[in-house]
Parts: sequence; C-alpha cells; structure tokens
Amino acid sequence: MLKDITSLILRHTLVSRSHLTPELSLRLITRGCEVWGARAEEVPFVDPYWGFYWPGGQAVARYILDKPRFFQSRRVLDVGCGCGAQAIAAASVGAERVLANDIDVNALEATKINAELNNVSVETSEKNFIGTKCEGFDTILIGDMFYDEEFAKTLFEWLSKLTDSGKLVLIGDPGRHGLTASRISSMTRLASYTLHEDTCLENRGFTEATVWRLEK
Ligand SMILES: C[S@@+](CC[C@H](N)C(=O)[O-])C[C@H]1O[C@@H](n2cnc3c(N)ncnc32)[C@H](O)[C@@H]1O
Repeated sequence: MLKDITSLILRHTLVSRSHLTPELSLRLITRGCEVWGARAEEVPFVDPYWGFYWPGGQAVARYILDKPRFFQSRRVLDVGCGCGAQAIAAASVGAERVLANDIDVNALEATKINAELNNVSVETSEKNFIGTKCEGFDTILIGDMFYDEEFAKTLFEWLSKLTDSGKLVLIGDPGRHGLTASRISSMTRLASYTLHEDTCLENRGFTEATVWRLEK
C-alpha cells in the first residue's frame, strides 16, 4: 500500500526549487505535472495539500535556514507538515529532534521522500497532536494552518496553552483570514519574505509571508 502511495507521489510530482528555500529540493505538484489543473476525479489523491509548498511553511523554513544556530538545540514538532519542508529545514540545520506530523498519511510519505531527497531523516507521525501537551518538544512549527475560522479558533487556543507552558510556537502565514488582528496582537513578527513569483500564482495573489512568534 505504502509502496503504491510512494510511486503515485513520484509519478505525479516534480522536483522544485522555485520557492523561498531553493536550498531544499522538494517534490511538488507543479505546472509541469499531469495532475496540475486536473478535475478532482482525475487526481489519484484526495486533497493533496502536501503537493504544494504553502507560503506560511515557506516562510518558517526560510527563517530556520537563516538562523541555523538557534535551531540546533531545539526539539521540533512540525504540525501539519504537508510536504515536510519545515521539518526538513530543521533537520538540515541539525536540530536535536525533528518530528513531522500530519493527519494525512500521504503527506507523511511525501515528507519521507522529500527528506531523502535532501539527505536528512525526520521522524513522522500521523497522530492528532491538537489539544495535547506536546511532551518531548520545545518548538512547535505551524505553517499555513489558519485557513479556516473554526479550525483557527481551536488551533489558536491550543497554541496559546503551549506558549503558556513555555514552548516556542512559530507560525508562518501569508495573511489568511483566520489570523485575525486580535490573534496577531499576541504575536511578535520575526521576519517577512516576498514569495517566489511561481508560488504567488498558486497562492491566489499572496505575495508575502510572515513568521510570527506567539507570546504568553
Ligand atoms: C495548508 S497545508 C500546510 C502544509 C505545510 N505546513 C506548508 O506550509 O506547506 C495544511 C496541512 O495541515 C494538515 N492538517 C490539517 N489538520 C491537521 C491536524 N489536526 N493535525 C495535523 N495536520 C493537520 C493537512 O493535512 C495539510 O497537510
């Protein structure tokens, strides 16, 4: 079964460096792929979010690669890892521990493929961490998860508890509606990046993405 998923991912993706972290080669669904622009019923995956490198994830991964020493001693949990880029960035700067988490098993397979492509290894887990204490981790990465208001509320409440318990929570986001002004008022802007023009087209006109640190 996993072998089938792996070969489908390899068949329907292309290696891309046209994003904010060109140091990382990532297998993604790009313009040259057969399934690009195909109707949902023609695509052999349900909601392949892992096939895209979302602006928020790009910003967090860029930030990690720009600050390698800061992340070397961290135990990192990438929640909603998608293609795995944030986790791969953390592993490539030598983070003490890296776990890539997604509830979509195909995302975990894509992450493993992408980790191998970049000569790093990351642990993977499909457990739903939302609401848990994330024991064993001191750094939580959230890339582009504020796309839905109801989910954003649950996510923000949980992340606030994690911050109160001393964890570092980094959130990458291009300005999605779930990251409201009131939520942003509890955050510090760490960095903003202009997106690669190829990914702007994919991302409905977003041109920038920011890394936020959630404060107590
Ligand atoms: C918009 S994508 C972002 C992917 C990646 N972080 C990035 O920035 O490229 C959101 C991802 O979150 C995953 N996801 C949704 N709910 C989740 C949950 N409760 N726990 C873990 N992952 C979840 C989805 O399967 C999807 O891969």
